Amino acid sequence: MFVCKECGYKSQQRLGQCPYCGKWGTFIEEKISSRAAESRESVKISSLKPEEFFRIHSRIAEFDQLLGGGIVKGSVILIAGNPGIGKSTLLLQLVPEREKVLYVTGEESPSQVAQRARRIKAGEHFYLLSSRKLENAENEIERISPSIVIIDSVQSVVADASGGFSVSPAALRAVTSRITELAKTKNISFILSGHVTKEGVLQGPKIIEHIVDVVLYFEESPSKKHRILYSTKNRFGNTQEFVLFTISAAGLNVVDDPSKFFLSSFANVPGSVAVSAFQGSSPFIGEIQSLINRTSFQFPRRQVIGLDLNRVYLASAIIERIFGFKLYLFDIYLNVAGGIRITEPAADLAIAFSILSSYKKAPIDRRCAFAAEIGLGGELRGVSDLAGRVRKAEKLGFEKFFTATAGEKVKSKMKIFYCRNLKDCFDAVW
Ligand code: TYD
Ligand code: MG
Repeated sequence: MFVCKECGYKSQQRLGQCPYCGKWGTFIEEKISSRAAESRESVKISSLKPEEFFRIHSRIAEFDQLLGGGIVKGSVILIAGNPGIGKSTLLLQLVPEREKVLYVTGEESPSQVAQRARRIKAGEHFYLLSSRKLENAENEIERISPSIVIIDSVQSVVADASGGFSVSPAALRAVTSRITELAKTKNISFILSGHVTKEGVLQGPKIIEHIVDVVLYFEESPSKKHRILYSTKNRFGNTQEFVLFTISAAGLNVVDDPSKFFLSSFANVPGSVAVSAFQGSSPFIGEIQSLINRTSFQFPRRQVIGLDLNRVYLASAIIERIFGFKLYLFDIYLNVAGGIRITEPAADLAIAFSILSSYKKAPIDRRCAFAAEIGLGGELRGVSDLAGRVRKAEKLGFEKFFTATAGEKVKSKMKIFYCRNLKDCFDAVW
């Protein structure tokens, strides 16, 4: 395999220019060891038992869930994020009480770590090693044989004279490969933090993603009040879940039900509409808001935050066509409250009603939730897992649910409005 040493792009051939980052002459050959056994005979797949993984539980149940049920023994997990986002805090909070854990920090002094551990009430039974040398960590692993090794950060233990976070990609990959080898041969789980560097993800964690088993990204919500942890790669589970945290002086706190948190600030004003959308594998209710003003520009503005702009163009064109409203005379601003991004077509109906509600200056009963895709003719199309969406909305206290006629019919205490098209739905809402 040939890997671009700038950005980690992989190719079967050595390329002159990297198609991903555009740099020239950056490809180096790398041996990708395959862990599949070499067999001479094929087997019937039905005769094979699925591989069972032994999993360790961390102190954050939602983190375990995100991984698919716990930290798999012998796996390597990378937590990537901007400096200052809270990686070290998260790592400390994860440390389970009952496991033997070695925490290697290349960035902080032992007293700094201890101080923070106390402040956030982390478990204090782990071993702490303050070192920038992987060798030292290896010696300690031999000595105390931990079941989990935390390395904060992977960049800091790269034996590199340059220091700082800007380590050479080759050195970073070498260290990560060595860690992976240790994990597999000694059956130790490693959790690494990795800084996303200013130049983008490219120089940092991206170039080691193919070596590790699980890649998690830790990010700030646009409102800056929350942290979102989600996975982009997981060898032992799916990558559908996410965990939402609030931050405080006492550390990170899991938000149990993100929809409840989104709804707490739900406004009963024109343009505010509850949308049933999927975030990963679970449905939640978000709030779409819109603002419509007479335009003073030659071309009316369409600005969105957290939504797909094209779907907003589509919804407004359909509204103009079906209701004859002159939206082209207005600037339209749409926003998803709570800084969450919703791009699935199922949000179409809520987008349309947010615009309609603003335009008519008529609030929508806040007990109504919406989920349907809108076709160009204004017809409504069904959405995935309507039953799941309805269940969630019901649980959160909603009473009316607007969706398409097509697709499954579900039982619920809520009144479900199955509408053929946007016009029908409009008549049912107002
Ligand atoms: P830190 O965990 O050190 O971030 P990283 O390891 O990603 O660089 O967190 C950065 C700062 O924010 C640190 O001073 C601690 C503070 N912080 C809190 O006070 N509460 C929190 O919940 C989090 C996540 C961070
Ligand atoms: Mg840190």
